[in-house]
Amino acid sequence: MSDFRNIVILTGAGISAESGLETFRASDGLWAQHRIEDICTPEALARNRPLVLDFYDQRRAALDTVQPNAAHEALARLDREWQGGLLIVTQNVDDLHERAGAKRLLHMHGELMSSLCEGCGGRAPFGGAMLDGTQCGACGGADLLRPDIVFFGEMPYEMDRIERELRRADLFVSIGTSGAVYPAAGFVQSARHYGARTIELNLEPSGGSHFFHESRLGPASRLVPEWVEEMLAS
Ligand code: APR
Repeated sequence: MSDFRNIVILTGAGISAESGLETFRASDGLWAQHRIEDICTPEALARNRPLVLDFYDQRRAALDTVQPNAAHEALARLDREWQGGLLIVTQNVDDLHERAGAKRLLHMHGELMSSLCEGCGGRAPFGGAMLDGTQCGACGGADLLRPDIVFFGEMPYEMDRIERELRRADLFVSIGTSGAVYPAAGFVQSARHYGARTIELNLEPSGGSHFFHESRLGPASRLVPEWVEEMLAS
């Protein structure tokens, strides 16, 4: 653990599970309750805007009922204390990393607490509900705001920055993700290609476990604090 300088950490829904937020592919997860093609595609938004807006309004409202857990807190501590390079790339759209204090963070799949204007393309902090009618603060367009969520078929945010950080990383850590969705699922292979050591912290083996040098199985609220202690002790 002592010869690492630049760390890239990928997080997925599993890091927020112990805070009480549903994951996607658990047997009772979000994609067991809703079809992706009805909720999380540009076509779904065009076909049934109220259904899509309401789905994300409900998930945004649920954020008020949950708190960051020990895994989010541990990553925020590592962010504060790690002297080298560090970037948390989260697939999650919740705000639990921020609320735990993480700063070197990007949301590649967007954020529940942000809106995207289909008129001017502007992104802005957003709370409350979109279903009741909204106006874009930048262009004044009415009912042009959509959830600032990257839908299937759309390009994730900040891919150039992620690629740059993977290229310079000497440690890549994946936490709480099933490795089911690209491009995030391919980051471990890029990291290995660039010479990084790769570690997976997950409740169960993921779709990409075989790509990692090391895979630790267990709840994030235990594995992540343990790993952060190791890193800061090195
Ligand atoms: N601790 C650690 N890992 C956990 C925990 C936990 N307490 N609970 C669940 N997990 C693991 C599961 O074993 C699973 O591998 O978290 C992973 C969650 O996988 P998914 O539900 O597929 O979520 P995620 O990997 O984030 O999905 C990726 O898919 O639908 C899209 O845009 C959506 O960002 C999402 C992307």
